[in-house]
Amino acid sequence: MTREHWGSRLGFILAAAGSAVGLGNVWKFPYLVGQNGGAAFVVTYLVLVLTIGATGMLAEMAIGRAAQRNPVGAFAALKGGFWPVTGYLGVICGFLILGFYSVIGGWTIAYTVKMLDGTLTAPGLDFAGIFSGFVADPLEPLLYHAVFMALTIGVVLKGVAAGIERWNKILMPSLLVLLVVLILRAVTLDGAMAGVEFYLRPDFSKINADVVLAALSQAFFSLSIGMGAMITYGSYLTRDQNLPRSTVMVVGLDTGVAILAGLIVMPAVFAFGVAPGAGPGLTFITLPGVFQQMPGGMLFGAAFFLLLLFAALTSSVSLLEVPVAYLIDELKVSRRTAVLVLGGIAFLIGIPSSLSLGIWAEFKLFGLPFLDLLDFITSKLIMPVGGLLMCLFAGWVVWPVMRREATNDGTARFLLLPVWNWLLKVVAPAAIAWILIQGLIG
Ligand code: TRP
Repeated sequence: MTREHWGSRLGFILAAAGSAVGLGNVWKFPYLVGQNGGAAFVVTYLVLVLTIGATGMLAEMAIGRAAQRNPVGAFAALKGGFWPVTGYLGVICGFLILGFYSVIGGWTIAYTVKMLDGTLTAPGLDFAGIFSGFVADPLEPLLYHAVFMALTIGVVLKGVAAGIERWNKILMPSLLVLLVVLILRAVTLDGAMAGVEFYLRPDFSKINADVVLAALSQAFFSLSIGMGAMITYGSYLTRDQNLPRSTVMVVGLDTGVAILAGLIVMPAVFAFGVAPGAGPGLTFITLPGVFQQMPGGMLFGAAFFLLLLFAALTSSVSLLEVPVAYLIDELKVSRRTAVLVLGGIAFLIGIPSSLSLGIWAEFKLFGLPFLDLLDFITSKLIMPVGGLLMCLFAGWVVWPVMRREATNDGTARFLLLPVWNWLLKVVAPAAIAWILIQGLIG
């Protein structure tokens, strides 16, 4: 059986950007900014993305393309020994993320529907109450979670070029257009400027170990690195792609969308006098309020949540593809079997995630409700550790392979090659280790 590959260079860029641009950008980034001191968090985040994030992204693409395998197989093929453990961590991590990501993906479907059926557009609504009532319901969010997972399964079933690539090529450009329209609306609201200022004028005294750990884990999450997603997508690449250039485009798109999403949410939050530190509900509570105020808000709102759905879908597809690629490569099962089995299990993990926001809220493990626990284990533990191991592997163990990949066997120039090597070997591992320790011991 020959390995599947992307149909075009742009197809890979859009698919990788589609993986990166997701709920992390539009839903999580703005509320993290709100909780972690505004612009100071933005600056910390940018520094980490451009150094550690870009370094890790390039390493993952290079490992994947060199090995032409899933993460476990890639570490085994390039070196073996202990290293495939890094791949296993990634495969498990993809699964665990999918187990709560799909629940939130379901919310975006629900909100699209609720925009259109009038639930969210009547005057004088209590959006906070609507949101908390919805997520705490024992049944409704689970139905939407099932729909979202079914869509994810449907795309991944079709394979790399005909499923993942094709859908990304449709969904990603539409998302960008709508973001711009919505920013123009948000920044022209009365009182929006206080939000713009909170968002863009840093107060550096707000930076502490927790803020830096939050920014680091968000950088990994948002770029889809640290658990082998970019290894997997890179493994469907042929040799003609320029990897450093692809990295710049994907990192640029992902960071751009996060910053732009904040420019929708923050001005709106301040314009409506909502607390910016409101947390996960920010997007689902604040934005409906914005749409309610604008002409044609019902349609803008529905379109926004539809596009949030698209962003989430192109990401969940990459999350599912990681364990799917593992099963196909290593256990020689068919794509169909792999997708249905793994999608089914991820759906089951989603059930306690969703219920932990309602009837199972009191049931805590390590002091956290199930959904928060999954988020903590994946973003704050597995992904930083995975990223750390990946950088050490790329920088110390298989550097000649990395150099070959980044320069296309010496035919392409990559001026930052020595810088990248130094970042991989020393700076990124040291910074990640330090941030992890500081963040975890408090
Ligand atoms: N990057 C996505 C987001 O920001 C989430 C995601 C998709 C992801 N695939 C991933 C995170 C792989 C880590 C690893 O929403």
